[in-house]
Amino acid sequence: MSTVLRNDIDKTLTEEVRAREISSRARTMQDSPIRKLAATAEARKKNGIKVYHLNIGQPDLPTHPIVLQTIRELQLSTLAYAPSNGLPQALAAWKQYYDGVGVELQEREIIITTGGSEAIIFAMCAMCDAGDEIIVFEPFYTNYNGFASIANVTLRPIALSIADGFHLPSTDEIEQHITPRTKGILICNPSNPTGTVYTRQELSRLVEIVKRHDLFLLSDEVYREFSYEGPSISVLDFPEIRDQAILLDSSSKRFNVCGARIGVLASHNSDIVQAAFKFGMARLSVATIEQLALIPLLNSSRQFTDPLVDEFRRRRETVYHGLASMPGVTFYKPEGAFYIVIGLPVDDSEHFSKWLIEEFEYEKETVLLAPAQGFYATPGRGMNEVRLAFMLKREDLERSLTILRAALDAYRKLF
Ligand SMILES: Cc1ncc(COP(=O)(O)O)c(C=O)c1O
Repeated sequence: MSTVLRNDIDKTLTEEVRAREISSRARTMQDSPIRKLAATAEARKKNGIKVYHLNIGQPDLPTHPIVLQTIRELQLSTLAYAPSNGLPQALAAWKQYYDGVGVELQEREIIITTGGSEAIIFAMCAMCDAGDEIIVFEPFYTNYNGFASIANVTLRPIALSIADGFHLPSTDEIEQHITPRTKGILICNPSNPTGTVYTRQELSRLVEIVKRHDLFLLSDEVYREFSYEGPSISVLDFPEIRDQAILLDSSSKRFNVCGARIGVLASHNSDIVQAAFKFGMARLSVATIEQLALIPLLNSSRQFTDPLVDEFRRRRETVYHGLASMPGVTFYKPEGAFYIVIGLPVDDSEHFSKWLIEEFEYEKETVLLAPAQGFYATPGRGMNEVRLAFMLKREDLERSLTILRAALDAYRKLF
């Protein structure tokens, strides 16, 4: 065989191998830190150990029966595609919902998406080219990493701290993270994983920054109603950045319908809305039945959200008081959502959480935690922190904290 032919074959083979490799964005995409320890928890349960899940974000309460009743009563002859921006009657219901919570929007400014997740991906794709940057405050909702990988966007984290209840740092510090590639700032308000609700004064500082640097301000408000000290403030409440504000929203948590997969992207900036509409056209439609099933909830939202918010407010008190009697634990009172990030008297919360679920038991029971490292983008941050979610009834939350206290005691003696 001639050398030329051999080289050609080798080249083709190498190219074929490369062609079959998965992309670097797929390789570097992180596994969900929340699910990491779940498999071990299942094995432990099979061995007769009761596991309290403090790790998940799925409300434990039943969905309001009106949702399934609406689905049962639907008279549809064809299960057709919906318009790519949403069914007209669903868009009207979302507008009514926003009127009710004091957020001024027109139907044409709303795109219904497959969950808040798709809204975030659409927003990133609408505002960024590959390699552009978005500033986030860490710890942050861990799936922002995945969305950024899909959109080929770089997240630039700014660290917050337990000592300040994870409130925003100085304007100077935020501005130091702005580079020529920065396109926007993404906040989650109220925040998953910290439960922080930003004050009007903090938000006004962000508004000033995005105005000064001509950036977008994206606000993930999926926990809007879960704000215990007073109403949370929407990014659309700042007329001075009408064209720079993008609202990312979801029905999942406030109506306890995570499986319905209905979210919203909304903005007064028609270019952003049109771009999201075009992305929406490419995926054709959001599920028709679920868009319709949520209309009764959207038409009179407080009736459905108030009981949920009251329950989570009570659970927040339970967790707060339980933590107060735990030696060496650092914490603050979360103002919203249903999570808290706490500091433990351990060096490596991942090791502690693994030990807790693999080896520890207290009267044949243990707890499953979410180590906080996965909520940080900066390596080495959050090493002694965990996120707790309030997804258990109050007695079980109290019990979980008793187990956690005993576990910390045992761990300190062992390691
Ligand atoms: C902060 C935050 N944003 C967005 C989402 C995504 O929600 P959805 O179920 O609507 O995709 C979640 C889900 O947990 C979340 O916690």
